[in-house]
Amino acid sequence: MNDLRDKYIELIAAATGEAALEELRVQAVGKKGEISLKMRELGKMSPEERQIMGPRLNALKDEINAALAAKKAGLADAALNERLKAEWLDVTLPGRGRRSGTIHPVSQVWEECTAIFADMGFAVAEGPQVETDWYNFDALNIPGHHPARAEMDTFYMHRAEGDDRPPHVLRTHTSPVQIRSMEAGGAPTRIICPGRVYRADYDQTHTPMFHQVEGLAIDKDISMANLKWVLEEFFSAYFGTAVKTRFRASHFPFTEPSAEVDIQCQWKDGSVKVGEGDDWLEVLGSGMVHPKVLRAGGIDPDEWQGFAFGMGIDRIAMLKYGIPDLRAFFDSDLRWLRNYGFASLDVPTIRGGLSR
Ligand code: PHE
Repeated sequence: MNDLRDKYIELIAAATGEAALEELRVQAVGKKGEISLKMRELGKMSPEERQIMGPRLNALKDEINAALAAKKAGLADAALNERLKAEWLDVTLPGRGRRSGTIHPVSQVWEECTAIFADMGFAVAEGPQVETDWYNFDALNIPGHHPARAEMDTFYMHRAEGDDRPPHVLRTHTSPVQIRSMEAGGAPTRIICPGRVYRADYDQTHTPMFHQVEGLAIDKDISMANLKWVLEEFFSAYFGTAVKTRFRASHFPFTEPSAEVDIQCQWKDGSVKVGEGDDWLEVLGSGMVHPKVLRAGGIDPDEWQGFAFGMGIDRIAMLKYGIPDLRAFFDSDLRWLRNYGFASLDVPTIRGGLSR
């Protein structure tokens, strides 16, 4: 009995895997196992013998079973430790960044303009990009024979053969929205309209589609002084520094008097800095709304007056963010967008804020 015990205890201790252990179990305590056969022999013994051998055999069986169970648990622990060693994760490893899209500089500046003018009480108005010639020209005091029509390099829409109504146009400026918002809201009014405009022109500073923001303020006693204040307030907030403006007498059919507005800047090593130096850069056209335009919008020019302006969004985006070529704005080159784009959660910067 002792030999049997020593043999199996030794074999169990030496077993190297679960399969080997199972084989040992069958060999020792399985149905035809060595210990089981010994137990069967109990029947042939005398009652005296059985009384001694029975408990001893049972104890042996229990001991072997316990050794098998302990070894099995030990093997499982060892296997788990092996797995833990092989399958560990370094949770401190930095994540692999996923590129997300960026906000186009035009969208960013569009938002910045909207935020700054909203702060001065201007609401945002909209109009269609395909316009009638009435809204784009006639209502703005640009009659059919007017040279401004030719100068604007207008894109005309197609008309069916035999249809001799004047063709629709891709709006050449955001000014038609002046008329549309006068019609819709009457006076007094204060609106801006950022949007796309179209002209058949293409070189380093012109693209056939570009962006303007129109401004219109109408009330009883609005003057050029208000226009100048609003624009200087805008530029200072937008560029985050005090910006001087220069008003040059000009001509637009829809404003009288009219002025083109330059902002103070300095050219240094091929790049431009706004708000210092003694160069000037043209950024917008403006003036007091022509009485004929007020009337076309359904507003009595004997009672109301106001100013309007139209500014190039792409132009001021290039100036603020140091972007040299306008055409690259619309190439959809991902490398350009990653370089000049803004993170989607960037709040539009209104550096410096308004002086009020
Ligand atoms: N619409 C003019 C342009 O596109 C700009 C402008 C707007 C001028 C409003 C005066 C008043 O050039």
